[in-house]
Amino acid sequence: MLGMYPTFYVPGIGTAWVMGIIGVIHVVASHTSVGASFLFALLETRAYRENKPELMAFIKRYGAFLLVFSYIIGSITGPGIWYAITVASPRGVSGLIHNFVWVWASEWVYFTVEVIGVYALVYLIGKVDRRTHLMLTWSFALASWATMLLIVGVLSFMMWPGHDAWYRTGSASDAFFNVNFFAQLGTRTGGMLVMAALVGLMVASRVKDPLQRRGVVGLIAPVGLAGGALAVVMFLYYLQTLPPNALVMLDAHLLPVYGKSMVAVFAVATLWLVFAWVCPQRLYTSLAVALFVFIAVAGVWPEERMRESMRKPYVAGQYIYGNQIIARDVPGKGVTGEVDRIAAHGLLALHPFIPDRLRKPTDANRLEVGRLLTRIACANCHSLEPGGPLRSLPDKLHEATDEDLIAAFLRGPLRHGTQPYMPRIDLPEDEIEAIAHYLAVVDSGQNVERLIAAQQHGEGQ
Ligand code: HEC
Repeated sequence: MLGMYPTFYVPGIGTAWVMGIIGVIHVVASHTSVGASFLFALLETRAYRENKPELMAFIKRYGAFLLVFSYIIGSITGPGIWYAITVASPRGVSGLIHNFVWVWASEWVYFTVEVIGVYALVYLIGKVDRRTHLMLTWSFALASWATMLLIVGVLSFMMWPGHDAWYRTGSASDAFFNVNFFAQLGTRTGGMLVMAALVGLMVASRVKDPLQRRGVVGLIAPVGLAGGALAVVMFLYYLQTLPPNALVMLDAHLLPVYGKSMVAVFAVATLWLVFAWVCPQRLYTSLAVALFVFIAVAGVWPEERMRESMRKPYVAGQYIYGNQIIARDVPGKGVTGEVDRIAAHGLLALHPFIPDRLRKPTDANRLEVGRLLTRIACANCHSLEPGGPLRSLPDKLHEATDEDLIAAFLRGPLRHGTQPYMPRIDLPEDEIEAIAHYLAVVDSGQNVERLIAAQQHGEGQ
């Protein structure tokens, strides 16, 4: 038996979108918090050096806003990501825990410092001496950035280690310092300053005093612009650190869809920051909120979606496929590839969570077996309904109802692993027929659930 878990299947949007939606909200909240911690540190340093205590009022206002929004939303969606990935991709998570358990433990220590830090920062303004408070704010900023640094090591390993050492040694530092670690850290560091500046403009739009507002915006707008420039440069470097399968996805599927919108978002953000810098008196709250929402959604969604898509066919380390099957041997971790074993014995025999009555396909249960196999082998990356948002399988098959045609795809490209963005899925003949039968029935527009219920009812009698 393989060490597989039950398959978690979400009709329509698929688990990948569930994960994507939670992830995007989390990225917006967490990047804003980390970026804001640096804005606070810079503002407070200026307040201290130039003796401008009025800047502290802004930090207090922005800090309270973060506490209510970012920290609450971030701390709900963070565990939400854990729940979602644990059921959607249990072996992917297991692989990451086996590499990074101490990295995560350290991240939680820094996160605790960050959360205590933000409360202390807001509530101790004016209650401790200014120098102590300034040191507190810089510690808060560094602890916040440390949480990002540690998580980026995990995220960038998910793309690939980029060198052979890790597969041999299995060591945490070979996994953590992978080829795209610094590039991704730089891109996110730039991006977090942009997010924090955009939220800062929303908060600044509520500051009544014109001089005070000019002082604040005069610092956060240039920091946001510098962050944007850093993000672009590091993103171009990031593109140089990607594996070949990612470049195929990028050129053929992603840039044609997202390329223009990414440039547009960058242009809008730049113009908005320049405008705010030049005319801070024209900063209206409604405009600031609208632009923040637009840039957060239109900018972060494609970025996260691209990172997830480019990683295909893998979820982690270029050895665990999206459908949880282990693609290759990893001697350093005592892990062995499973594709050939599945080709020899079949998923129905090797998967521990197949009900006994479905272990052998027959004319009576073929549709139900096909549905189960398709959910196990394909649903992590494809919606199974026509028009589904996640690379809908019926749409990809052009709603073909010819079982032989569908089976030919499974016997050809899928069995031989010729598509660089798809796993090699080599199945015995009876399993291919069951999948092809199920997909042909779905494509024909019949109600599969009702047909299966009727068949089960027939068997019961
Ligand atoms: C790990 C992810 C993953 C899994 C699992 C997966 N696919 Fe795909 N598949 C992709 C990606 C990525 C594409 C590229 C299409 C796109 O994004 O537009 C694709 C494209 C396709 C296409 C369109 C032809 C092509 O080559 O572009 C078909 C047909 C298809 N998949 C069938 C299947 C079937 C059947 C299964 C299950 C037996 C399956 N896929 C499992 C990721 C996957």
